[in-house]
Amino acid sequence: MAVVEINLPHHRYEVRIEPGALSQLGQWVHQVAPHDRAAVLADSAVFDSYGSAAKQSLGKHYRHVTVQPLTSGEDHKNLDAVERLYSVLIDAKLERGSPVVALGGGVVGDTVGFAAATYLRGVPFIQCPTTLLAMVDASVGGKVGVNLPQGKNLVGSFYQPRLVVVDTDTLGTLPERELRCGLAECVKHAVIRDADLFTWIETHAADVLSLERDALVELVERNVRIKAAVVIADEKETGERAHLNFGHTFAHAIEAVVGYGVAQGYHHGEAVSLGMVAAAWLAVQTGRCSSEVPEKVTRLLDQIGLPTRVKGLPPTAGLMEAMQLDKKVSGGRLRLVLPTKLGEVSVVDDVGQDEVARAWETIRGSS
Ligand SMILES: NC(=O)c1ccc[n+]([C@@H]2O[C@H](COP(=O)([O-])OP(=O)(O)OC[C@H]3O[C@@H](n4cnc5c(N)ncnc54)[C@H](O)[C@@H]3O)[C@@H](O)[C@H]2O)c1
Ligand SMILES: [Zn+2]
Repeated sequence: MAVVEINLPHHRYEVRIEPGALSQLGQWVHQVAPHDRAAVLADSAVFDSYGSAAKQSLGKHYRHVTVQPLTSGEDHKNLDAVERLYSVLIDAKLERGSPVVALGGGVVGDTVGFAAATYLRGVPFIQCPTTLLAMVDASVGGKVGVNLPQGKNLVGSFYQPRLVVVDTDTLGTLPERELRCGLAECVKHAVIRDADLFTWIETHAADVLSLERDALVELVERNVRIKAAVVIADEKETGERAHLNFGHTFAHAIEAVVGYGVAQGYHHGEAVSLGMVAAAWLAVQTGRCSSEVPEKVTRLLDQIGLPTRVKGLPPTAGLMEAMQLDKKVSGGRLRLVLPTKLGEVSVVDDVGQDEVARAWETIRGSS
């Protein structure tokens, strides 16, 4: 088992990473939140596969365990879902000390986390992520929240979990496309902080995609350490945490213009893949790094099977407009995270429109 300790100024918790960890969920949760009632809110896509294992494990330590499925998908990360969750928690007679476990991907983690943060002004929250993205990204950092019709993640809070339990075996049922999307965020972590991790992913991408157990544990551990280090340095997102946006300003514009979701176009990790390529070339164009960086990043993303060019990319003007609407724009200036070398980035706000437009062209596929 790998354990990553997260030491925040006012809160300390562990991320425990192990194949088969769900069987120990009850024991571990009980250590951090002893009570006689507990609830598990599970993504409906994982409820059948892992809901009963979670219930059984918790049942050894809690007298009353409620396990409830939640409808999957970004469309259900909203206040209606939160309100339904409050009803589940009230019906289950959960009290201030009763732990609430989120079992699923980032959508469930964010939604259940927000309900846990606000129900009775906060109950013990446990993350049990089942997508690679949630394991390496969403479950670490304490951001919880939901979407409004007007936009993504507009309502939320910072609420730290008592514990994060990562059972890497749950990735066995995750669609491969989602696994690749999680790897996009791992490549992001490597580019912003850790050149050794970049080399490790180059060597082990195939092991990860074939769900080799040791490779998965090492991948999750290394990435959790990076995300944790960044958010500990900057718990409320004033400076360093912005580095996690590498590739994301371009990605959000792609998601806004091309659309996201399975049917419409790109999944988030795929948009991030494209965004990292564009941002890395922009860094070259503006004299911040050598062309080796985008070349290596593109090669690795290709190797993983993530997109690095878009056929039928909409006209640049619309993409540039979408970038300006992104919430990371401050005072009308586009703030971009650009690599200076592998493992290091800087935040810049002086890039010209022409240069950004040229960066978009680097990912335009010949269709
Ligand atoms: N809080 C944060 O800091 C943070 C960071 C990054 C992303 N997010 C949020 O996370 C969300 C994206 O997370 P995600 O990529 O995990 O998406 P997701 O939760 O929608 O999961 C992706 C898909 O996989 C399915 N699934 C999940 N686990 C599975 C498993 N083990 N087997 C089979 N199917 C499984 C889900 O039903 C869904 O269809 C977004 O809403 C994003 O805003 C939050
Ligand atoms: Zn992302």
